[in-house]
Amino acid sequence: MGNPWFETVAIAQQRAKKRLPSSVYGALIAGAEAGISMRDNVSAFDEIGFRPVTAGQAAERTMDVTVMGQSASMPVIMSPTGVQAVHPDGEVAVAGGAANRGIPSGLSSFASKPIEEVAAVNSQLFFQIYWAGDKDSMLARIERAKNAGAVGLILTLDWSFSHGRDWGSPAIPQSFTLKELIPHATDVLRKPRWAWTWAKSGQIPRLTVPNFVTGDDKPPVFFEAYGTWMGTPPPTWEDVAWLRSQWDGPFMVKGVVRADEARRAVDAGATCLSVSNHGGNNVDGAPASIRMLPEIVAAVGDQVEVVLDGGVRRGSDVVKACALGADAVLIGRAYLWGLAANGQAGVENVLDILRGGIDATLRGIGVDSIADLTPDDVIVPDGFSPPPMG
Ligand SMILES: Cc1cc2nc3c(=O)[nH]c(=O)nc-3n(C[C@H](O)[C@H](O)[C@H](O)COP(=O)(O)O)c2cc1C
Repeated sequence: MGNPWFETVAIAQQRAKKRLPSSVYGALIAGAEAGISMRDNVSAFDEIGFRPVTAGQAAERTMDVTVMGQSASMPVIMSPTGVQAVHPDGEVAVAGGAANRGIPSGLSSFASKPIEEVAAVNSQLFFQIYWAGDKDSMLARIERAKNAGAVGLILTLDWSFSHGRDWGSPAIPQSFTLKELIPHATDVLRKPRWAWTWAKSGQIPRLTVPNFVTGDDKPPVFFEAYGTWMGTPPPTWEDVAWLRSQWDGPFMVKGVVRADEARRAVDAGATCLSVSNHGGNNVDGAPASIRMLPEIVAAVGDQVEVVLDGGVRRGSDVVKACALGADAVLIGRAYLWGLAANGQAGVENVLDILRGGIDATLRGIGVDSIADLTPDDVIVPDGFSPPPMG
């Protein structure tokens, strides 16, 4: 095998595509409808520029921050994703790689690994839940997370159950019966390295969601849990305030892109908002999250922490987001591709790429510290963001 190290996230993505069965790779690409928001998340960052300096920079730059009560060695957090079938070590490798680089990690309620195993490798763990099931079951889930050591809660609200994609949705088995698995055999046999990684681990990708249940209940398969979520009426802001009142610690609402909702989330008790369109998986046509960041920062940035997720692929993207007022960014696909390419070492490789990129950008623009960034450090074209709401 060649050198497993990769120099950019784009190369990690190429390796992930080569290595993963097409259904697993397709599940990571995800996206909705025509993929407008998914593409805009990435391309909007390209519209923002810098004004480089040539002399007078500090010899060393600083980039550590504190977000959700946790110190992070750079303004990057692992966004919660269900790491189903990508790698046998799944979320343990993601959180472990993050811990090795001094980075907090979000854990999805649709994750493939039990929270207790993940918390054992990263004490800076934020548990993510959806509004799914009845209130008692939600309480039981967050109680389990608290007992496991989660230090923050993320409530993700931006999901609209839109299912069609113009490039076709990946075929995912509904259950692990032989009948369901046979159609996937060819896809898997074409990817012997992926199959061998699983065979060596003595596991098979089961697509169960162990953090959806508590006690001795049997974990449901992904689609059963998804059905519960889909069948749950969306929460009111009073419901959000109720959930917040049940969690004693930092509380992020993820998926806010409007000033009016940002204010309501703050009134409901959120301590942190993630400006996000779920990586382009919510309503297609939602603008890139970086376009909406200034509106949210202007509305509530002096009251709560504001982070952003969606489209971050480079250290320079992190600098752009922080210059426009983000306290940190969350990353999703970037680490998923690293994980697919090279397990936990691939996750660490992605974080090293971002760190190097942040440092190079700060040096290039003559800013000594992430904390010193301001909107004047970036060039934002006219019309980049939609007109702000009142
Ligand atoms: C495959 C995949 C699974 C995801 N699963 C979850 C999830 O379970 N919970 C959640 O809050 N967000 C989930 N997300 C959204 C991410 O947390 C994050 O918002 C998004 O990936 C950021 O965009 P990026 O991938 O361009 O970095 C998922 C995203 C992807 C791509």
